[in-house]
This record gives sequence, C-alpha cells and structure tokens, in this order.
Amino acid sequence: MPEPTLERGDITTFDVDAIVNAANPMMLGGGGVDGAIHAAAGPRLLEACRQSPAVGGIRCPFGEARITPGFDLPARWVIHAVGPIWGRTPEPELVLTSAYENSLALASTHGLASVAFPAISTGAYGFPLDAAARIAVEVTRRRWGSVDDIRFVLARADVFEAFERALQR
Ligand code: APR
Repeated sequence: MPEPTLERGDITTFDVDAIVNAANPMMLGGGGVDGAIHAAAGPRLLEACRQSPAVGGIRCPFGEARITPGFDLPARWVIHAVGPIWGRTPEPELVLTSAYENSLALASTHGLASVAFPAISTGAYGFPLDAAARIAVEVTRRRWGSVDDIRFVLARADVFEAFERALQR
C-alpha cells in the first residue's frame, strides 16, 4: 500500500474517485468542510442525503460512513463520515478510527482507487490534532483493496504540520 500523501487546499476541488466529508449524524449539511462540499456539489447532494434512511433523525451514527454521488463536484463520489465530538462522544479514538476504516471499506466495496480525506473531527468537533493525525495515518497505511491513492487535503497549516509529524513516525 503506497504511503498516503499530504496536500494543502480545498478538498472540493480535488478530482478523485471520492472525497470524504466530515459530516454529522443528521447528514443534512453544516459548516466547515461539510458546508463547502454541499455548496460545491449543489442541491442534489442534500436531496441524496435526505434519501439516506434515518432512524430518529440519525442517518449516519458516529464512526460510520455513507456514500452518495458527487454531483457538481469533480469527485465522482462523496463519502460522508461522522467523526467523534471531542469531550462528548465516548471512546473518541475508537470512533475516529472507525470513521476512517468505514470510509475506506466503503471505497473498496465500490472498487474506488483514489480517496481524499479532510482531517476528520479536527475542526468543530475539537479532536486534538496530533492524536487525530496519528489515527488517520495508522488506518490509511493498511491495505484497503482497490484503494491505492489516499490523500489528506488539509486546509490549515497547523493541521498540515500535525499530519507531517504523524507520517514521520
Ligand atoms: N477542504 C479541506 N479541509 C477543510 C475545508 C475544505 N474546504 N474546510 C474546512 N476544512 C478542515 C478544517 O480546517 C478542519 O481541519 O476540515 C477539518 C474538519 O473540520 P470541520 O469541517 O469543522 O469538521 P469536524 O471537526 O469533523 O466537525 C464536523 O462540523 O461542519 C460541521 O456538519 C459538520 O456537525 C459537523 C461538524
């Protein structure tokens, strides 16, 4: 499995098989990267999210992932992953690990080759940067079937540096 790569930038501009969205359990959009992806993908993305079955308003529990088309994005697919809320979600390290694992399992099930991740949970959800980066790198270094191109697309310099440190471990 080739090493995951780091890029600075806006994940909505990446032409890959799938970009991963740092979503919330309701999967109806939000701020941060969720807001940027919905804005770039257009209103059909929200329609597709609404069609995902909900149980008590929850479409994607913490640690899980769902896939929709990318619509107006350059990416063919969007994988909506819900990371833990630091200080609220129990076992946050396990839940963040699961969010990455479930995203890559979905990508592999769909036979995808290239996947771009944001730094899940490191924004509004408050996960400490170095711990989040270590988890992301550990999961993405494993073999994931058809997936052979994993990129971390980091908007903030401090997040980029945390991922650089994690890749040097
Ligand atoms: N491209 C790449 N990375 C981005 C972009 C972008 N366009 N916009 C923001 N980011 C980065 C942030 O800098 C942060 O490092 O994505 C990381 C994740 O931050 P958030 O988007 O706040 O996601 P998260 O911390 O997982 O919180 C999820 O926020 O937007 C809401 O609906 C979302 O409730 C959910 C919560």
